[in-house]
Amino acid sequence: MSVDLKDGLPEPWSDRFDQGLNPAIERFNASIGFDIALLQEDLDGSVAHANMLAKCGVISFEEAKELEAGLETIRTEAAKGLFKPCLADEDVHFAVERRLISLLGPVAKKLHTGRSRNDQVATDLRLWLRRRIDELDLELERFQKALFVKAEHHLYTLLPGYTHLQRAQPISVAHHLIAYIEMIQRDRNRFTEVRARVNISPLGAAALAGTSVPIDRHYTAKTLGFADISANSLDAVSDRDFVIEFTSASSLVMAHLSRLAEEVILWSSEEFAFVKLTDRCATGSSLMPQKKNPDVPELVRGKTGRVFGHLQGLLTMIKGLPLAYNKDFQEDKEALFDVVITTKTSLEAMSILFEEGLHFSEERLMGAVESDFSNSTDVADYLVKKGIPFREAYQLVGGLVKECLEKGILLRDLSLQQWQAVSSSIEEDLHEKLAPKMVVASRMSEGGTSFTRVEQQLKHWRIRLGFESK
Ligand code: ARG
Repeated sequence: MSVDLKDGLPEPWSDRFDQGLNPAIERFNASIGFDIALLQEDLDGSVAHANMLAKCGVISFEEAKELEAGLETIRTEAAKGLFKPCLADEDVHFAVERRLISLLGPVAKKLHTGRSRNDQVATDLRLWLRRRIDELDLELERFQKALFVKAEHHLYTLLPGYTHLQRAQPISVAHHLIAYIEMIQRDRNRFTEVRARVNISPLGAAALAGTSVPIDRHYTAKTLGFADISANSLDAVSDRDFVIEFTSASSLVMAHLSRLAEEVILWSSEEFAFVKLTDRCATGSSLMPQKKNPDVPELVRGKTGRVFGHLQGLLTMIKGLPLAYNKDFQEDKEALFDVVITTKTSLEAMSILFEEGLHFSEERLMGAVESDFSNSTDVADYLVKKGIPFREAYQLVGGLVKECLEKGILLRDLSLQQWQAVSSSIEEDLHEKLAPKMVVASRMSEGGTSFTRVEQQLKHWRIRLGFESK
């Protein structure tokens, strides 16, 4: 944000100071360049505080009305782009107070009664974050829905399932995508839990020790929609756990997005060719005309590091701080704002990627699961059903795979005689049981990839995400 530099303004603090700040220190100290983002919440908090002061008889109701009207004028000015704090305002809290004084005169000087910027900034930040969490939850839900629509479309499309990035067992594409819907649901649950701890009012803790002014903390808490007030004034002004746990929850969101992003990047390569990127989300190369680059998932993967970095930065910021408020806390804002914007835009980009940015190449996927040994476990399981102990069956199939590899053939190319040479209990039905669709269909255990199980999962999410009523 650009800030108007207005020289000659008195410093906002008390008469104990004779000299103005060194201009470089003024710039270094100021947070107005970024905490202007808290303006709405600062105004909300001040309106609630003013009304509470009147209700408690500290100021008159007329004065509270005047203060509220002045604060709303500032809101309107800001909406019209007319509220332009300067560097000398230092931060959003001083900027509002100064503007209020120039609008209303002496009565505005009563607003800060029984309050400090220390409880004010903590209140603003909690109000701000509460709103952002609600917005993020909508983005998370949108992403789940985008994954769901794709999953529903690809229940019967098969994908090689991997462990160690080696082909392991075929799975339904839907099963794979629902795994991410589950992760995102846990992310949403985490945000809900964090939100409950964010939603506690520090207002009225004042500088650190409370105040002798007869205030009503429950009144402001209720007006601002907080569920409760913080119990200890020192903790109230010096707690930034909520910023850190929010960043931690966002880090997990980013980790989940990054894993899927990495898969899309691999899948869109010529080597895999499991998905095709559409022109809506892919970019070209400035030099190589044949290229279509997966910039979206690459950026998401790259941005993940920023969010993880903020988590480390914030933890380090608080680790040596004595109680109560320390200016170090001012450093929480740019980190938090960046975490929110990065997580939100990454989620939005990944939603768009799944909504209109990629297609699964069904033929290629089907070809992939038909040309490998990912049905080996199924032969072993078949033998187990015929009474052969699993470890023995496993060895037998291992030997067969080796033989096939040497001959350059697949398990399904073996004749019944060759199978029976391994075990006389093998019958004609093995062949059809080895077809990838049958293999997938057979994984009937709860939470498994069989079509019936995945259809159950789809049904659960169809209702949960509001595509169908119960
Ligand atoms: N700009 C400050 C911050 O972000 C506001 C609180 C300032 N309090 C103080 N005692 N200097 O933390």
